Amino acid sequence: MNEHDSERIAGLLLADGMTPAEDIAASRVVVLNTCAIRENADNKLYGNLGHLKPVKAANPQMRIVVSGCLAQKDKGEIQRRAPWVDVVVGTHALPHLLELLARSETEGLQMDVREQTETFPSALPAARDDAFRAWVSIAPGCDNACTFCIVPLVRGPQRSRAVDDILAEVRGLAARGVVEVTLLGQNVNTYGRDVTVPGSPRSPLFADLLRRVGAVDGIRRVRFTSPHPHDFTPDVIEAMADTPAVCEHIHFPMQSGSDDVLRRMQRSYRRDRYMGWLERIRAAIPGIAASTDIIVGFPGETERDFEQTLEVVEAARFDSAYMFQYSPRPGTRAASFDGQVHKEVVQARFDRLVALQERISTEEAAALVGETHEVLVEGGDKKGRSTQSRTRTNRIVHIAEAMEPGRFARARIVAAAAHHLTGELVRDPVGAGT
Ligand code: 5AD
Ligand code: SF4
Repeated sequence: MNEHDSERIAGLLLADGMTPAEDIAASRVVVLNTCAIRENADNKLYGNLGHLKPVKAANPQMRIVVSGCLAQKDKGEIQRRAPWVDVVVGTHALPHLLELLARSETEGLQMDVREQTETFPSALPAARDDAFRAWVSIAPGCDNACTFCIVPLVRGPQRSRAVDDILAEVRGLAARGVVEVTLLGQNVNTYGRDVTVPGSPRSPLFADLLRRVGAVDGIRRVRFTSPHPHDFTPDVIEAMADTPAVCEHIHFPMQSGSDDVLRRMQRSYRRDRYMGWLERIRAAIPGIAASTDIIVGFPGETERDFEQTLEVVEAARFDSAYMFQYSPRPGTRAASFDGQVHKEVVQARFDRLVALQERISTEEAAALVGETHEVLVEGGDKKGRSTQSRTRTNRIVHIAEAMEPGRFARARIVAAAAHHLTGELVRDPVGAGT
């Protein structure tokens, strides 16, 4: 979501006639778009602002903008610690960035950290990094209250976009050559809960949205992130299975394999229920790859709790996992829980978990050798000698041949490592090319 916000900021500035600068020292506008979900974004921010102070002193026309979660949270703190900042723009006020910048020229510091989103994110222009892939925000905000998580505090409640707005955006993207979209929401399964279908008391359902996005002409791959195990429903599995464009990959955040820890995280599912969903998804969609998010060292996590996470990871056989050391986020409930786990203990557990998942990722990758997969070319090495591409199952495939980004091809997997595969082009006419 934070990266998508960066695209929207870049889109707004480009639409205003600006061009990307090569050199920070010579730029007119510098934007620091902060994300506070896991790291100490504040240390980074104030460090960067410290570096920018003399740069701005030498180039007084420079305007410095701080946006994102930390802008939303720190508000006046930024002004106090870095008075050379010109604009502080929170997560809900991005659409007003250009006005704020203009006003800062004559009126000094501008701060807009309103608490409510007025314009839905993707209704703004966005300067996307790839011409053929795009994120599409379907429901910013989150109504959950996971005790470790800062998102509800900085992004506010869930606000679903209307189905027609989302489809219009996807159609527009497809018309510009986009072939893959990733639907973005903190909890995509509850998409629509906060709105109704025009002219009906019914709420739009995520499963219907998936089908309709999948039916847009030109869209060949649909991904989404993230579903929440608590709100998952069978109709989503059916929609995934029946919609050819929906990729055979699910990112399904588990967070912990211990029921006690899940309870204290206020994640209202338990390990058996999680594993049950995974089984049903895999039964309905053969070959589907699963990835997950796991937090190690949540307050009160015992050795036994952690071993349960290892057991579930062993049983679940994820293709890949994003693994995080718990980080107390100021303002969240868990930050003040008893039993904060010692840094060394967290590190040691984290290393064990990473080693286990590396082994599983390597084994799962090795099992793919000999298979042929459709791949979408993402880019190449700088010298144009090889290509990086991606399977529908979200595996990276290196191919020793230059191909244009955005093209589809078929690759036979000839070698495998934990985080990437090596493939050879299959030159059959069927299904190859765009
Ligand atoms: N500490 C560590 N990891 C966190 N995440 C969210 N908040 C924290 C935190 N305080 C992780 C979760 C989430 C992912 C996006 O970031 O695993 O799913
Ligand atoms: Fe954070 Fe939980 Fe909402 Fe995800 S579902 S954004 S982890 S509060």
